[in-house]
Amino acid sequence: MKKRLGVTVSRQIMDSQRLHPQATGDLSGLLNELIVAAKIISAEVNMAGLADILGQSGKKNIQGETVQKLDEFANATIKRRMEQCGYICVMTSEEEEGIIPVLDGYEGKYTLAFDPLDGSSNIDVNVSIGTIFSVHRKITDGPKGSERDLLQKGSLQVAAGYIIYGSSTVLVYTTGEGVHGFTLDPSVGEFFLSHPDIRIPERAKYYSVNEAYTNYWYDGMRKYVEYLKEIDQKTGRPYSLRYIGSLVADFHRNLISGGIFLYPRDRKSTDQPEGKLRLLYEAAPMAMLVREAGGLAVTDDGQDILDIQPVDLHQRVPLIIGSRFDVERAKRFVVS
Ligand code: AHG
Ligand code: MN
Ligand code: MN
Repeated sequence: MKKRLGVTVSRQIMDSQRLHPQATGDLSGLLNELIVAAKIISAEVNMAGLADILGQSGKKNIQGETVQKLDEFANATIKRRMEQCGYICVMTSEEEEGIIPVLDGYEGKYTLAFDPLDGSSNIDVNVSIGTIFSVHRKITDGPKGSERDLLQKGSLQVAAGYIIYGSSTVLVYTTGEGVHGFTLDPSVGEFFLSHPDIRIPERAKYYSVNEAYTNYWYDGMRKYVEYLKEIDQKTGRPYSLRYIGSLVADFHRNLISGGIFLYPRDRKSTDQPEGKLRLLYEAAPMAMLVREAGGLAVTDDGQDILDIQPVDLHQRVPLIIGSRFDVERAKRFVVS
């Protein structure tokens, strides 16, 4: 109850805007619009079992994956809210092939990339899912946004975050001034500050990886994960495995409790030569958050995720992300 007296997310956004006298308020406006979309999605997720919105839509998305009804709902909700908010010039969604234009006359100075519903294969079984977003500044001339405005390095993001629809709905975001977490109080429809200035523990307690794919991995990756099962000198215990199969949920736990998440490239299968996760919608925004919280995100070649120049809206990237000490150590194993 006491938390309700605390800072709401809109107040926090306004307070940080005031620290930048030159700010126009557009980024604040953008974030506030996204938050409204998140509240609508959250309400629908909570009603999923009752509203005939569970299950598959019968379609495949651009990635060839089965589209769930809630994927479509979340995608349409974000698109509709953002296409006439006036703060962005172009969008891209994990669920759509090409760029998504905004309505004529509503072009703004930012771009938005989003994964409308991450972990959607978990919807029907009540496991936490989420929405991930990434914001860049427009770089081309003229009012209309283009693909080039969206294909920017993660290091140039001006904001990134996610909303996790879990036991409660939590928003975690950064604008480059720390990482802050807010919990939705559904009775009043407000996000209240619950996790100010999140710092990821320097050392991981958990590792998160789909170990069923061990036979597809490179030797270095296999050796690293075997190493995690040995008794750690410092703790006297092996690491614990936690894998939900919903990046937002796995990342959120690791951010709060200390952990390392790995989705490596495949050595044998040609299905996932670059891993599964997408640079623009998943890896880059999570990398900005983890860096701001004191952690690290690299590929399994050891390249910083934030330094990768995207060439395709839907490109995939091998991802190692989490507590700094552990990502550094993983790098020594996997980069040969
Ligand atoms: P999405 O539901 O947006 O397609 O993403 C699913 C992703 C990610 O959330 C998760 O980490 C990963 O898929 C799990 O993949 P595996 O089932 O191969 O482990
Ligand atoms: Mn996803
Ligand atoms: Mn998705």
